[in-house]
Amino acid sequence: MSTSTSARARRDSGAPATAATTVTPATTPRRERVFSGIKPSGTPTLGNYLGAIRHWVAEQDIYDNIYCVVDLHAITVPQDPAELRANTRQLAALLLACGIDPERSALFIQSHMPEHSELAWILNCVTPTGWLNRMTQFKAKAGADREAASAGLYAYPVLMAADILAYQTDAVPVGDDQRQHVELTRDIANAFNYRFGATFVEPRALIREVGARIMSLDDPAKKMSKSESEGSYISLLDPPDAIRKKIARATTDSQRTIVFDESRPGIYNLLTIYELLSGQSREAIEAEFASKGYKEFKAALGELVVTALTPVQARYAEITENPGQLDALLARGAARVRPLAQATLRTAKARVGLI
Ligand code: TYM
Repeated sequence: MSTSTSARARRDSGAPATAATTVTPATTPRRERVFSGIKPSGTPTLGNYLGAIRHWVAEQDIYDNIYCVVDLHAITVPQDPAELRANTRQLAALLLACGIDPERSALFIQSHMPEHSELAWILNCVTPTGWLNRMTQFKAKAGADREAASAGLYAYPVLMAADILAYQTDAVPVGDDQRQHVELTRDIANAFNYRFGATFVEPRALIREVGARIMSLDDPAKKMSKSESEGSYISLLDPPDAIRKKIARATTDSQRTIVFDESRPGIYNLLTIYELLSGQSREAIEAEFASKGYKEFKAALGELVVTALTPVQARYAEITENPGQLDALLARGAARVRPLAQATLRTAKARVGLI
């Protein structure tokens, strides 16, 4: 969607045209707004970090940033209440430890903003079930016993659309597995705008070429995910020895050369992680390991991951020493962006005839 169309939808929605999270002088062009979310369903993985969080951190000066710990999405599958409570705060603290700067980005907990759920209901009522039936993540997560899956899991992408559309978001930085959900969000926005008049900006997904799909360490045909076995992923809070061990045991193949070859998914995945964390070119990495074996390469990669995560873990320990400060910061993040969500919700309700 062109900027002028976005600006029109924003103006029509009653949402402020200027950034809410950054003070932008009137003479400079408005920054594009990004929104993204992450589920507190366990400690985040290196996949979450490389596919999403790293970009959120690196691009805070480019965009008007809103980041959300999506606890309502987590409960679409069974969660232990005490664990969910702890994981939600742990994830918020980890995002800060990774470098999300509360001065430049609004960070908050999804359930603290009831506007998301209210907007989601309205969007549920304009979303054909046929669209939801096509969602591959629902099929994968529901598994064989689809009848037993919660209605929440089925409507999950509509809540995600509400998260995004509530803030008149321009772009959504995510890993590859969320592409279909962002496309659905565009379709829902478009359907609503067509039926009721311009209300929502149609957002685009921001997905990087490298690192958008980090694979499991023990089965490189699958995405790295915290819902799989312990040895398959690196958690951001794994101790150094666990990281080294998991990488040493990672599945590769019976060949010897250390080259970027997509037809060899195990070593390709490890090399991709090396590329992203070292910042070196593929040629330089291949040259460095030309006369070395998998064992030496894995040892070097282990050290690289440990070096990347050690400062994150140290900052995390500092942040969690002061839970009151974390709560206050999350409340401030929500307060900063609440007017945007309220304005969008008010317009959507008026358009539909609820007010
Ligand atoms: P979640 O919590 O599964 O993942 C958070 C982010 O991490 C990315 N990611 C990966 N990237 C590369 N390789 C991997 N192995 C990997 N695993 C996860 C995800 O693509 C995501 O960007 N539905 C979303 C949360 C959400 C959301 C939103 C996102 C709710 N509302 C609105 C964007 C906008 C999810 O479950 O992400």
